[in-house]
Amino acid sequence: MEELIVELGSRSYPIYIGAGLLTCAELLTKHIKSKQVLVVTNTTVAPLYLQQLLNNLQSYNVEQIVLPDGEQYKTLDTVSLIFDQLLAKRFSRNATLIALGGGVIGDMGGFAAACYQRGMAFLQIPTTLLAQVDSSVGGKTGVNHPLGKNMIGAFYQPQCVIADADVLDTLDDRQLSAGIAEVIKYGLIRDISFFEWLEENITALLARDKVALAYAIKQSCINKAEIVGEDETESGIRATLNLGHTFGHAIETGMGYGEYLHGEAVAIGMCQAADLSRRMGWLNDADVTRIIALLTAANLPVIPPPQLAAEQFLQLMAVDKKNVDGQIRVILLEKIGLATLPMGVDSKLILETLMAYGKSNTAVN
Ligand code: NAD
Ligand code: GLY
Repeated sequence: MEELIVELGSRSYPIYIGAGLLTCAELLTKHIKSKQVLVVTNTTVAPLYLQQLLNNLQSYNVEQIVLPDGEQYKTLDTVSLIFDQLLAKRFSRNATLIALGGGVIGDMGGFAAACYQRGMAFLQIPTTLLAQVDSSVGGKTGVNHPLGKNMIGAFYQPQCVIADADVLDTLDDRQLSAGIAEVIKYGLIRDISFFEWLEENITALLARDKVALAYAIKQSCINKAEIVGEDETESGIRATLNLGHTFGHAIETGMGYGEYLHGEAVAIGMCQAADLSRRMGWLNDADVTRIIALLTAANLPVIPPPQLAAEQFLQLMAVDKKNVDGQIRVILLEKIGLATLPMGVDSKLILETLMAYGKSNTAVN
C-alpha cells in the first residue's frame, strides 16, 4: 500500500492507494472517530461493494443510503435525501459519512457532510479511476445547477481517501478512458515526464495492467496533493487543474448532464485549450497533434459536439467559476507540461477556436 499525504496543516490527511483496501478494516477504524456512520452510495456501486464495506463496519451503528446513479442526479434535491436520512436516523454532528462511489457520489457526499449541522467528518472511498486520481482528493464538493456545472458547493476536506485499485476491475472501458483523461491532464499541466510515460504506456493502461494503473494513480495523486497543499481554495495554481474544463463544462451543461462523461468532455476541452494555446503563439502544430494523438489513443473523443454552435458555447463558458468580472478565463498551455491562467484571452481568439477546431477534421487552421 502507498500512502501519500495532502499537507493542509491541522487538516492534513492521507491518501491510501493499493489493492484490496476495501477489506482492510484497520484503515476505517483509524479514521472513524464516531459510533454513528452513514454510507452514501448508488444503485450501481451498492450491489458491487457495499456489503464488503459493511463487513468491516460491524462495530459501528451503520446506516446506508443508496442514491440513483448518474450525473443528472448530482443535484440539491438528491443531497436533500442524504439530509433526510441523517435527520430521520438522529445523526449527531460528530457522526461520520462515507462516500462510496465515483466522483458524483464523492462530490455529493462531501457536500452533504460539509453542510450537515455545519460540518461532519467524511471519508472518501472512490471507486472510479477518475475519482481515485482527481475528485476524491482536495475537498471540492458540490452539485450541478441547470445553468452551470458544479456551481453550488464548498471546499471541505475528508479525513482520508481510500483508493482500492481492485474495484476498477468492474469499471467499464468507457469509464476507464474517462478517468485517463484526468490522468493525462496532470502530464499536460505540470509533469512532462509523466506525459511521456503516458505516451509509452497508454496501451498497458487500457489493458488494465495493474502495475501501470498503480503508477498512474500514484503519480496523479502526487501531483494533485502537491497542488492542493499549495493552494487549497484555488486562489492561484489550483486553477490549472481546470485545463479543458471551461470548454468541457460547457459541453456537459449544453448537451445535458450525463450525455458526455465528465472525462470525455474534459478530453475535448483539452484539445480546444491546446488549439487556443497555439493561437496564442505558445504551442506549435506538432504539440497540438501530439496531445490529440494521446487522447485519441486513450479512446477519448477529441471533437466537440457539432450541435453546440459557437455562440451557445461562449454563453455556456460565461458561467465558470474562474471568470472574473464577467470575463471568460481559460487555462492554457505555454508548453506541454506547463499550464498558465492568462488574465485575459481575446474573445476573438476563443471564438476562432470554437469556430475552427474540429469543424472539418482535427486540423487547426
Ligand atoms: P460517476 O461518479 O458518475 O461514476 C461513473 C459511473 O461508474 C457511474 O455509473 C457509477 O455508478 C459507476 N461506477 C462507480 N464505481 C464503479 C465500479 N467500481 N465498477 C463499476 N461501475 C462503477 O463519474 P466519475 O467519472 O467517477 O466522476 C465524475 C464526477 O466527478 C463529475 O460530476 C465531476 O464534476 C466530478 N469531479 C469532481 C472533482 C473534484 O475535485 N471534486 C474533480 C473531477 C471531477
Ligand atoms: N478537479 C479540479 C480541482 O480539484 O481543483
